[in-house]
Amino acid sequence: MEAEPNPAASPARTRPIGVFDSGIGGLTVVSALRKILPNESIFYLGDTARVPYGGKSAATVERYSTEMIAMLLEEDCKTVVVACNTASALALPRLEALSPVPVLGVIRPGAEAAVSATRNGQIGVIGTRATIKSGAYERALRELDPALLVTARACPLFVPLIEEGWLDGEITERVVRQYLEPLVAEGIDTLVLGCTHYPLLRQTIGNFLGDAIALVDSAQNCARAVMHLLDAEALHAGGNETGHLAVALTDPPDAFLEVAQAALHFEIGAVQLRQVLHPSKP
Ligand code: DGL
Repeated sequence: MEAEPNPAASPARTRPIGVFDSGIGGLTVVSALRKILPNESIFYLGDTARVPYGGKSAATVERYSTEMIAMLLEEDCKTVVVACNTASALALPRLEALSPVPVLGVIRPGAEAAVSATRNGQIGVIGTRATIKSGAYERALRELDPALLVTARACPLFVPLIEEGWLDGEITERVVRQYLEPLVAEGIDTLVLGCTHYPLLRQTIGNFLGDAIALVDSAQNCARAVMHLLDAEALHAGGNETGHLAVALTDPPDAFLEVAQAALHFEIGAVQLRQVLHPSKP
């Protein structure tokens, strides 16, 4: 008979947490993870060769995501975080089915946090076109509470504004108002930032909405869900471990990496490059 694995001695605990996103936006999840799990090493993979995923079909997002998770498994990750709302909305069941390690998406943790935050049961959700079209947030929210009123809206201009570093200023404020006014008119008291880029717009969105509307940030809630998963699976790195961050991209970094580092207040060392099998067409 095989010996029972001893979780305390398992080398799995020192393996990295794998995190992937369509690009750089998932670094908001890395930032949240590093704050609450400083002993954990993280291997981040951004599919910058094929970003954005948000306007692509479900089949394409599933194919790209499958390739991303395979690369993270090659890095011997002990768990995989899908730090992309679009990939979580469209590909999570497939990724869960093929992965030998636990896979966690951002939708369920965001939905749970929204249900805890709302007082009037009226929740707004914003995200990419693909995320909103998938109805993944509505399903997750209604599973938790069928009586909720959910208003969802795609905000496709937010990602390019963020990637240009236009996190505030007149134009960004006008775009925020244009997208969010109808949600405010619906009477929402909670807004889910259903895209991993959007925490970088938190200040501008918060200024427009004011204190009466709670903002639910998928990055922070996902990081808490990872912490609970590591607890449940006895996969935490020891308290004496120093967590390292490795960042790999499928295309060399552009200016957005600087924007993200400055906004998130953390330094990324040398970026590794990985090649994807099916780069997107020019
Ligand atoms: N990371 C994506 C998300 O969270 C946004 C960027 C994209 O469209 O790929 O939905």
